[in-house]
Amino acid sequence: VETNNNFPVSEIGTAKSSCGSCAVTRREAILLAATASVLALLPIFKANADTPDQWVAVGKASSFTVGAPVMVTPATGEALYVTRIDSITVVAVSAKCTHHGCKVAWMPADSQFECPCHGAAFTSTGKNVHGTMRNPAMGLSPLLSLPTKTTVDGNVEVNLAGIDVALLTPKVS
Ligand code: FES
Repeated sequence: VETNNNFPVSEIGTAKSSCGSCAVTRREAILLAATASVLALLPIFKANADTPDQWVAVGKASSFTVGAPVMVTPATGEALYVTRIDSITVVAVSAKCTHHGCKVAWMPADSQFECPCHGAAFTSTGKNVHGTMRNPAMGLSPLLSLPTKTTVDGNVEVNLAGIDVALLTPKVS
C-alpha cells in the first residue's frame, strides 16, 4: 500500500461512518451537512443584501425623552417605536408582536410593551419578558430591531429596510 503523509492511500477519503453498510462516507456526510447549512442561510443573506437602505427621519433627538418610547408610523411602513435609551443612544423596534403580529402598546406603568391579543410583553429594546397568557413561560423572539442614526443636525433616522423580510415565524400557544 502506497502512503501519502503516512496515511494509506487506500483509506484517504473513504472513511466510513459508524454505519458500516452505509453508502455515504463520513467526509460526504460532513460535506452534505455543511452545504445544507449554507443553503439554509442563503435566503436571509440574499434578502438583506437585496434590500436597499430606507432611512426615514422620525424626529429631533432632543424631542425624545429617555425611557419613553414614541410610536411612529412612516408613510411607507408599519408602526414602530423609537426610544431614547440615554443621552446618545436611540433604538427603534417594530410594533409588531412576534407571536401573531398584533400591534404592541407601551405601558408606562409597567415600563414594557404589552400585546393586547395574548398578553406577551417586551422591554423597551424589544426583548421578550413574558410569553402569552396561556403560556407565560413561552419564549418569544424579540421585537424586530431597526438600525438608527442621528444626523449632524440632530435628526433621528431609522432604516426601514428589512422590516418586512425579517418578520419571524409565529409561534403557537
Ligand atoms: S399576537 Fe401578541 S401575544 Fe399573541
